[in-house]
Amino acid sequence: MEQTRGRFAGPPLTPRTAVIWSVLRAELDRRGDTELTVLDVGGGTGGFAVPLARAGHRVTVVDASPDALAALTRRAAEAGVADRIAAVQGDGDALAGLVEPAGVDLVLCHAVLEVVDDPTPVVAALATALRPGGAASVLVAGRAAAVLGRAMNGHLDVAAALAADSAGTAGPRDTLRRRYDAPGAAALLGAAGLVVEEIHGVRVLADLLPAAVADGQSAALVELERALAAQPPYRDLAAQLHLFARRPA
Ligand SMILES: C[S@@+](CC[C@H](N)C(=O)[O-])C[C@H]1O[C@@H](n2cnc3c(N)ncnc32)[C@H](O)[C@@H]1O
Repeated sequence: MEQTRGRFAGPPLTPRTAVIWSVLRAELDRRGDTELTVLDVGGGTGGFAVPLARAGHRVTVVDASPDALAALTRRAAEAGVADRIAAVQGDGDALAGLVEPAGVDLVLCHAVLEVVDDPTPVVAALATALRPGGAASVLVAGRAAAVLGRAMNGHLDVAAALAADSAGTAGPRDTLRRRYDAPGAAALLGAAGLVVEEIHGVRVLADLLPAAVADGQSAALVELERALAAQPPYRDLAAQLHLFARRPA
Protein backbone atom coordinates (compact mmCIF):
# COMPACT_ATOMS: atom_id res chain seq x y z
CA MET A 1 0.00 0.00 0.00
CA GLU A 2 1.18 3.49 -0.77
CA GLN A 3 1.17 6.40 1.66
CA THR A 4 -0.44 8.50 -1.01
CA ARG A 5 -4.13 9.15 -1.20
CA GLY A 6 -6.31 8.51 -4.20
CA ARG A 7 -7.61 5.10 -5.16
CA PHE A 8 -7.47 2.94 -2.04
CA ALA A 9 -5.95 -0.52 -2.51
CA GLY A 10 -6.50 -1.61 1.10
CA PRO A 11 -5.28 -4.74 2.85
CA PRO A 12 -5.72 -8.27 1.46
CA LEU A 13 -9.40 -9.18 1.62
CA THR A 14 -10.49 -11.90 4.02
CA PRO A 15 -13.95 -13.39 4.51
CA ARG A 16 -14.20 -11.49 7.81
CA THR A 17 -13.40 -8.05 6.43
CA ALA A 18 -13.96 -8.04 2.65
CA VAL A 19 -17.47 -6.64 2.77
CA ILE A 20 -16.52 -3.83 5.16
CA TRP A 21 -13.48 -2.83 3.12
CA SER A 22 -15.61 -2.81 -0.05
CA VAL A 23 -17.94 -0.26 1.53
CA LEU A 24 -15.10 1.81 2.98
CA ARG A 25 -13.17 1.72 -0.28
CA ALA A 26 -16.14 3.22 -2.11
CA GLU A 27 -16.28 6.10 0.40
CA LEU A 28 -12.51 6.69 0.24
CA ASP A 29 -12.60 6.66 -3.56
CA ARG A 30 -15.52 9.08 -3.46
CA ARG A 31 -13.40 11.48 -1.37
CA GLY A 32 -10.55 11.24 -3.89
CA ASP A 33 -7.32 12.91 -2.85
CA THR A 34 -8.57 14.42 0.41
CA GLU A 35 -6.72 13.58 3.62
CA LEU A 36 -9.52 12.38 5.89
CA THR A 37 -9.75 12.72 9.64
CA VAL A 38 -10.81 9.31 10.92
CA LEU A 39 -11.97 8.31 14.40
CA ASP A 40 -11.98 4.59 15.26
CA VAL A 41 -13.88 3.98 18.48
CA GLY A 42 -12.90 0.67 20.07
CA GLY A 43 -10.38 0.32 17.27
CA GLY A 44 -8.34 -2.20 19.24
CA THR A 45 -5.01 -3.16 17.73
CA GLY A 46 -5.55 -1.18 14.53
CA GLY A 47 -6.84 -3.70 12.01
CA PHE A 48 -8.63 -0.84 10.26
CA ALA A 49 -6.68 2.15 11.58
CA VAL A 50 -3.30 1.07 10.22
CA PRO A 51 -4.43 0.45 6.61
CA LEU A 52 -6.32 3.76 6.66
CA ALA A 53 -3.21 5.56 7.91
CA ARG A 54 -1.12 3.81 5.26
CA ALA A 55 -3.56 5.15 2.69
CA GLY A 56 -2.64 8.66 3.84
CA HIS A 57 -5.39 9.48 6.33
CA ARG A 58 -5.11 10.64 9.97
CA VAL A 59 -6.65 8.23 12.45
CA THR A 60 -7.43 8.60 16.14
CA VAL A 61 -8.15 5.32 17.91
CA VAL A 62 -10.08 5.54 21.17
CA ASP A 63 -10.05 2.27 23.08
CA ALA A 64 -10.53 1.21 26.67
CA SER A 65 -7.70 -1.33 26.63
CA PRO A 66 -4.11 -0.17 27.27
CA ASP A 67 -2.87 -3.52 25.93
CA ALA A 68 -4.74 -3.08 22.66
CA LEU A 69 -3.40 0.47 22.31
CA ALA A 70 0.16 -0.71 22.99
CA ALA A 71 -0.21 -3.31 20.22
CA LEU A 72 -1.67 -0.62 17.96
CA THR A 73 1.28 1.67 18.63
CA ARG A 74 3.76 -1.12 17.79
CA ARG A 75 1.85 -2.03 14.65
CA ALA A 76 1.68 1.59 13.53
CA ALA A 77 5.45 1.99 14.04
CA GLU A 78 6.17 -1.20 12.09
CA ALA A 79 3.97 0.06 9.26
CA GLY A 80 5.74 3.43 9.28
CA VAL A 81 2.58 5.38 10.09
CA ALA A 82 3.12 6.26 13.77
CA ASP A 83 2.84 9.94 12.88
CA ARG A 84 -0.61 9.39 11.37
CA ILE A 85 -2.19 7.50 14.28
CA ALA A 86 -3.12 8.84 17.70
CA ALA A 87 -3.91 6.25 20.38
CA VAL A 88 -6.22 7.54 23.08
CA GLN A 89 -7.24 5.47 26.08
CA GLY A 90 -10.85 6.14 26.85
CA ASP A 91 -14.28 4.71 27.36
CA GLY A 92 -16.69 4.69 24.46
CA ASP A 93 -19.42 5.42 26.98
CA ALA A 94 -17.72 8.78 27.67
CA LEU A 95 -16.83 9.53 24.06
CA ALA A 96 -18.51 12.92 24.09
CA GLY A 97 -15.81 14.24 26.42
CA LEU A 98 -12.94 12.85 24.34
CA VAL A 99 -13.55 14.14 20.81
CA GLU A 100 -14.24 17.53 19.30
CA PRO A 101 -17.66 17.97 17.74
CA ALA A 102 -17.99 18.07 13.94
CA GLY A 103 -14.28 17.44 13.29
CA VAL A 104 -14.29 13.94 11.78
CA ASP A 105 -14.83 12.81 8.18
CA LEU A 106 -15.20 9.10 8.88
CA VAL A 107 -15.99 7.39 12.14
CA LEU A 108 -15.59 3.66 12.69
CA CYS A 109 -17.28 1.81 15.51
CA HIS A 110 -16.78 -1.90 14.92
CA ALA A 111 -17.81 -4.61 17.36
CA VAL A 112 -18.24 -2.15 20.22
CA LEU A 113 -21.93 -1.26 20.58
CA GLU A 114 -22.66 -4.78 21.81
CA VAL A 115 -20.26 -4.41 24.75
CA VAL A 116 -20.69 -0.83 26.02
CA ASP A 117 -22.99 -0.03 28.94
CA ASP A 118 -25.41 1.99 26.82
CA PRO A 119 -25.13 2.27 23.03
CA THR A 120 -27.44 5.28 22.70
CA PRO A 121 -25.01 7.96 24.00
CA VAL A 122 -22.13 6.30 22.14
CA VAL A 123 -23.95 6.56 18.82
CA ALA A 124 -24.99 10.12 19.67
CA ALA A 125 -21.33 10.95 20.29
CA LEU A 126 -20.32 9.32 16.99
CA ALA A 127 -22.86 11.49 15.18
CA THR A 128 -21.70 14.61 17.05
CA ALA A 129 -18.06 13.90 16.15
CA LEU A 130 -18.87 13.81 12.42
CA ARG A 131 -18.72 16.82 10.18
CA PRO A 132 -21.94 17.41 8.25
CA GLY A 133 -21.68 14.99 5.30
CA GLY A 134 -19.27 12.73 7.23
CA ALA A 135 -19.79 8.98 7.27
CA ALA A 136 -20.11 6.31 9.95
CA SER A 137 -19.08 2.67 9.60
CA VAL A 138 -20.77 0.68 12.34
CA LEU A 139 -20.43 -3.06 12.86
CA VAL A 140 -22.65 -4.87 15.34
CA ALA A 141 -23.23 -8.47 16.41
CA GLY A 142 -26.08 -10.16 14.57
CA ARG A 143 -28.84 -11.71 16.56
CA ALA A 144 -30.14 -14.42 14.25
CA ALA A 145 -26.68 -15.91 13.66
CA ALA A 146 -26.14 -16.24 17.39
CA VAL A 147 -29.39 -18.19 17.79
CA LEU A 148 -28.57 -20.48 14.85
CA GLY A 149 -24.98 -20.94 16.00
CA ARG A 150 -25.99 -22.04 19.50
CA ALA A 151 -28.61 -24.41 18.09
CA MET A 152 -26.22 -25.95 15.56
CA ASN A 153 -23.75 -26.62 18.37
CA GLY A 154 -26.45 -28.50 20.25
CA HIS A 155 -27.14 -25.81 22.85
CA LEU A 156 -30.88 -25.63 22.23
CA ASP A 157 -31.65 -24.15 25.65
CA VAL A 158 -29.19 -21.30 25.06
CA ALA A 159 -30.58 -20.75 21.54
CA ALA A 160 -34.11 -20.55 22.96
CA ALA A 161 -33.03 -18.09 25.67
CA LEU A 162 -31.24 -15.93 23.13
CA ALA A 163 -34.20 -15.93 20.74
CA ALA A 164 -36.59 -14.96 23.52
CA ASP A 165 -34.45 -12.23 25.07
CA SER A 166 -35.35 -8.69 24.01
CA ALA A 167 -31.65 -7.69 23.90
CA GLY A 168 -30.61 -10.87 22.09
CA THR A 169 -28.39 -12.19 24.86
CA ALA A 170 -28.26 -15.60 26.47
CA GLY A 171 -28.29 -14.29 30.03
CA PRO A 172 -25.74 -13.05 32.56
CA ARG A 173 -22.95 -15.34 31.33
CA ASP A 174 -23.17 -14.05 27.77
CA THR A 175 -20.04 -12.13 26.76
CA LEU A 176 -22.13 -9.58 24.85
CA ARG A 177 -24.70 -7.22 26.32
CA ARG A 178 -26.88 -7.12 23.22
CA ARG A 179 -27.21 -8.20 19.61
CA TYR A 180 -29.04 -6.60 16.73
CA ASP A 181 -31.22 -7.23 13.75
CA ALA A 182 -31.05 -4.85 10.81
CA PRO A 183 -34.12 -2.75 11.69
CA GLY A 184 -33.01 -2.39 15.32
CA ALA A 185 -29.49 -1.31 14.41
CA ALA A 186 -30.78 1.11 11.78
CA ALA A 187 -33.20 2.60 14.30
CA LEU A 188 -30.36 3.15 16.78
CA LEU A 189 -28.36 5.12 14.22
CA GLY A 190 -31.43 6.93 12.92
CA ALA A 191 -32.31 8.13 16.41
CA ALA A 192 -28.93 9.90 16.52
CA GLY A 193 -29.70 11.74 13.29
CA LEU A 194 -27.59 9.51 11.04
CA VAL A 195 -29.03 8.48 7.67
CA VAL A 196 -28.36 4.80 6.99
CA GLU A 197 -27.29 4.34 3.38
CA GLU A 198 -26.29 0.67 3.29
CA ILE A 199 -26.62 -2.43 5.44
CA HIS A 200 -24.56 -5.54 4.74
CA GLY A 201 -24.18 -8.88 6.43
CA VAL A 202 -20.61 -9.74 7.40
CA ARG A 203 -19.67 -13.42 7.78
CA VAL A 204 -22.88 -14.80 6.31
CA LEU A 205 -21.12 -18.12 5.71
CA ALA A 206 -17.63 -17.82 7.15
CA ASP A 207 -18.54 -19.09 10.62
CA LEU A 208 -20.71 -21.92 9.31
CA LEU A 209 -18.12 -23.65 7.15
CA PRO A 210 -15.60 -26.23 8.32
CA ALA A 211 -12.20 -24.55 8.62
CA ALA A 212 -10.75 -26.79 5.91
CA VAL A 213 -13.34 -25.55 3.42
CA ALA A 214 -13.00 -21.90 4.44
CA ASP A 215 -9.20 -22.00 4.35
CA GLY A 216 -9.00 -24.06 1.19
CA GLN A 217 -11.36 -21.88 -0.84
CA SER A 218 -10.68 -18.48 0.68
CA ALA A 219 -10.96 -16.46 -2.54
CA ALA A 220 -14.22 -18.17 -3.50
CA LEU A 221 -15.57 -17.56 0.00
CA VAL A 222 -14.68 -13.86 -0.17
CA GLU A 223 -16.57 -13.59 -3.46
CA LEU A 224 -19.60 -15.43 -2.10
CA GLU A 225 -19.65 -13.32 1.07
CA ARG A 226 -19.62 -10.21 -1.08
CA ALA A 227 -22.36 -11.56 -3.35
CA LEU A 228 -24.69 -12.43 -0.45
CA ALA A 229 -23.93 -9.52 1.88
CA ALA A 230 -26.59 -7.10 0.71
CA GLN A 231 -29.33 -9.67 0.04
CA PRO A 232 -31.95 -10.57 2.62
CA PRO A 233 -32.42 -13.23 3.91
CA TYR A 234 -28.66 -14.03 3.74
CA ARG A 235 -27.72 -10.59 5.07
CA ASP A 236 -29.91 -11.02 8.13
CA LEU A 237 -28.32 -14.35 9.07
CA ALA A 238 -24.80 -12.93 9.16
CA ALA A 239 -22.67 -13.04 12.31
CA GLN A 240 -22.32 -9.26 12.08
CA LEU A 241 -24.25 -6.43 10.47
CA HIS A 242 -22.40 -3.54 8.89
CA LEU A 243 -24.21 -0.22 8.64
CA PHE A 244 -22.87 2.66 6.62
CA ALA A 245 -24.54 5.91 7.55
CA ARG A 246 -24.03 9.60 7.03
CA ARG A 247 -24.59 12.79 8.99
CA PRO A 248 -26.74 14.96 6.75
CA ALA A 249 -24.83 17.81 5.12
C1 LIG B 1 -14.10 -6.95 19.59
S1 LIG B 1 -12.88 -5.71 19.74
C2 LIG B 1 -13.05 -4.89 18.18
C3 LIG B 1 -11.80 -4.23 17.75
C4 LIG B 1 -11.89 -3.53 16.38
N1 LIG B 1 -12.91 -2.48 16.38
C5 LIG B 1 -12.15 -4.55 15.30
O1 LIG B 1 -13.26 -4.57 14.76
O2 LIG B 1 -11.24 -5.32 14.98
C6 LIG B 1 -13.66 -4.56 20.81
C7 LIG B 1 -12.74 -3.44 21.19
O3 LIG B 1 -13.52 -2.50 21.91
C8 LIG B 1 -12.79 -2.10 23.05
N2 LIG B 1 -13.79 -1.70 24.05
C9 LIG B 1 -14.60 -2.49 24.76
N3 LIG B 1 -15.40 -1.75 25.55
C10 LIG B 1 -15.06 -0.48 25.32
C11 LIG B 1 -15.50 0.75 25.83
N4 LIG B 1 -16.46 0.81 26.75
N5 LIG B 1 -14.93 1.88 25.38
C12 LIG B 1 -13.94 1.84 24.43
N6 LIG B 1 -13.48 0.71 23.91
C13 LIG B 1 -14.03 -0.43 24.35
C14 LIG B 1 -11.97 -3.30 23.46
O4 LIG B 1 -10.84 -2.92 24.22
C15 LIG B 1 -11.60 -3.87 22.10
O5 LIG B 1 -10.39 -3.32 21.62
